[in-house]
Amino acid sequence: MPAALSPFYRSPGRDFTLVLGDCLEALAAFDFRFDLVFADPPYFLSDGGVSVQSGRRVCVDKGAWDRPPGRDAERAFTLAWLRAVRGKLTPQGTLWVCGTYHNSFLVADCLEALGFRLLNAVTWVKTNPPPNLSCRMLTHASEVILWARRHPRVPHRYNYALLRAIAGGRQMRDVWPLPALRPWEKVGGVKHPTQKPLSLLVRILLAATAPHDWVLDPFCGSGTAGVAANLLGRRFLGVDRCADYLRLAQARREALDAPGAPEALRARLDGFRSPGQLEALLAQERAALSLAEDAHGEPL
Ligand SMILES: C[S@@+](CC[C@H](N)C(=O)[O-])C[C@H]1O[C@@H](n2cnc3c(N)ncnc32)[C@H](O)[C@@H]1O
Repeated sequence: MPAALSPFYRSPGRDFTLVLGDCLEALAAFDFRFDLVFADPPYFLSDGGVSVQSGRRVCVDKGAWDRPPGRDAERAFTLAWLRAVRGKLTPQGTLWVCGTYHNSFLVADCLEALGFRLLNAVTWVKTNPPPNLSCRMLTHASEVILWARRHPRVPHRYNYALLRAIAGGRQMRDVWPLPALRPWEKVGGVKHPTQKPLSLLVRILLAATAPHDWVLDPFCGSGTAGVAANLLGRRFLGVDRCADYLRLAQARREALDAPGAPEALRARLDGFRSPGQLEALLAQERAALSLAEDAHGEPL
């Protein structure tokens, strides 16, 4: 393994690895194929506008990484990271990319240009959105998650029956009403400025991965995708340029090692028919798993 890629953190069970650095450089430095890539890239929204956070009017400033660099640079960056993660997917692998109308059209256009096949544009409807302060437009209450497969013709994994069970015996639709971040998702009262809810990531990983699968997040922030992966018995590698965010991700992962913690966290998740439904679904998955299906290697 190249010295530049020594993990920032690796869990004792080697199911959760964090790498500090620019994702384009980090991904170029090792060769491994992941079953799923989740990406929550900069939306480039921090342009001095105003928003509401915890009931208070705040200036939109998530960090330097979210300042708009101009449309041409945004497109070049989007093409570059999409090309990089495409090379890291198994032939059957799929990519999920979060966004809003600010960046999703650009991402969809780049996906098509690179030969991905778009499968769905999932609308995550926030059941508790902050109000719109201007009162001149509709409240922003949704985000889009583009789901695409690597290859136009190679079939991808979709756990149809599992998602159907979560949807109460009907086909799962592409509109997912789920709450925004819950207060309990902060570790020691701290959160990433754009932290995604665990329930959203759990739904995504249940849809398109199997136990022991590897998940890559090139913009991992506080590691929500990794915590969700480990809660479901999947494995994770996350990259972020900011050490403070990776420390938050590490703390979230280490909290899972406390006795009973994964079960307690799973019991708090939104989006299931009953409190025990997720445990029952995971038990079914484990029972169906043969040893041969755990034939993966390790990324680093
Ligand atoms: C939208 S946030 C991700 C939040 C994450 N989904 C969570 O739940 O905490 C985007 C992250 O990408 C990181 N980032 C931005 N540009 C990057 C790059 N070129 N390489 C790696 N990380 C980058 C930022 O530091 C930020 O933490």
